[in-house]
Amino acid sequence: ASADIGVYGLGVMGANLARNLARHGHSVAVFNRTPARTERLIDLHGGEGDFVPAADPAHFVASLRRPRAVIIMVQAGAGTEAVIEQLSPLLEPGDIIVDAGNTYYADTERREASLREQGIHFVGMGVSGGEEGALLGPSIMPGGTEASYARLGPLLESISAHVDGVPCCTHVGPGGAGHFVKMVHNGIEYADMQLIAEAYDLLRRVAGMSVPEIADVFRDWKRSELDSYLIDITAEVLDRIDPATGEPFVDVIVDAAGQKGTGAWTTRTALELGVAVPAIAEATFARAASSATAQRAAVRAAGINAGTTRPGFATAAERDAFVDAVRQALYGSKIAAYAQGFDEIATASAQRGWNVDLGAMARIWRAGCIIRARFLDDITRAYGEDPQLPTLLTAPVFSRALNEALPAWRQVVSAAALGGVPAPAFAASLAYVDQLRARRLPAALIQGQRDFFGSHTYHRVDDPVGVYHVLWAEPGRAEEKWS
Ligand code: 6PG
Repeated sequence: ASADIGVYGLGVMGANLARNLARHGHSVAVFNRTPARTERLIDLHGGEGDFVPAADPAHFVASLRRPRAVIIMVQAGAGTEAVIEQLSPLLEPGDIIVDAGNTYYADTERREASLREQGIHFVGMGVSGGEEGALLGPSIMPGGTEASYARLGPLLESISAHVDGVPCCTHVGPGGAGHFVKMVHNGIEYADMQLIAEAYDLLRRVAGMSVPEIADVFRDWKRSELDSYLIDITAEVLDRIDPATGEPFVDVIVDAAGQKGTGAWTTRTALELGVAVPAIAEATFARAASSATAQRAAVRAAGINAGTTRPGFATAAERDAFVDAVRQALYGSKIAAYAQGFDEIATASAQRGWNVDLGAMARIWRAGCIIRARFLDDITRAYGEDPQLPTLLTAPVFSRALNEALPAWRQVVSAAALGGVPAPAFAASLAYVDQLRARRLPAALIQGQRDFFGSHTYHRVDDPVGVYHVLWAEPGRAEEKWS
């Protein structure tokens, strides 16, 4: 019993995590249901470190030092459930099971509570960065008990990405906090990707640019506050020419975006919490709309297309000004989208007593993960200066940036609407900012309507705590104060 940690499930992600651990000097027990995977890992990479291959779960568990720590990296859902059932009878109080998959946080909470009864620590751990990140340094978001982090933290921090020596891994909070934060990370990822896609579409269809020209624009934006991994890979995808047709690769891909659920979870959870995350929701809906192939064909065939006008650009300078306006709209929208994601984490954290350090979340997303970006430094700093920020929008760095971006952003959203180019995430993000900055919202009218048809009551601006109702159905329509 000497292995520092075990990895159960040796698909690409699991195998890469195991290799990353071994390469950092940890002795790693490895097990896979089909032994061929284990053999392959040892054959190809056995020399990278100290692997302890096991032929069955009992030997796997027996090879671990106490308190035992097992990372499971199998199909989320039924796969994870089955492995937990198999492992938990073999474990002892104090041992730790880590679920490193993209698991819905409520499932994690349930499993954590039930394993706690056996004295087993269950850690829902977000891991971002894809296959390469798992091998070379992911961003890691573990939840669970303090005791489990005391045992796991040093191992996980050693294998995570680092920025200036600071690991992209921290204890997120108890229970399902780790998987919750990973879920919102993915929701933000959806929004960020959709915003970039909308920017591309506007450059192509409103500014009339070619795909290689647009790739250059994204490379150019890398030198701005937009600098991020997603911007980098966007330029690379746009650069690719399809060898079979000689066309831009982006033109040969079917334009229906897939999804495995994390964006929908983020949106659904926000609805349950009553938190507005319109950019994330629109990004998720945009994937669904793109995939509504039959409806898209029917609407096109029906010729529903009146009234579009595209601005003409008389000079190159005018077009360049539009390109720059799109950059500003993208940056403003990005600030709004991240503000929404952080708001969702803050709200859940307050409701569940998780005490999540929002600045630390931005810090561990600076490298390793899909949304890594220069911009996250600003978020970390903003929460460092004021941990009680009511919203990221009011951090001085972002309120300044929003004021700079808003004029251009409004023009871009108008141009998109006039041109018939869908920009749901740009538009929803702008509306979000406009809602939050409004002195008065038409929500007052909604309260009036609710009171009219359902006696749902309202508060008055001159008595914000009193509960009022108008006797709408009676002559005179008198106002009553109910409490
Ligand atoms: C990451 C990614 C990763 C994965 C998602 C994408 O952080 O490494 O978010 O978790 O790419 O599963 O999900 P969709 O398939 O829904 O786009």
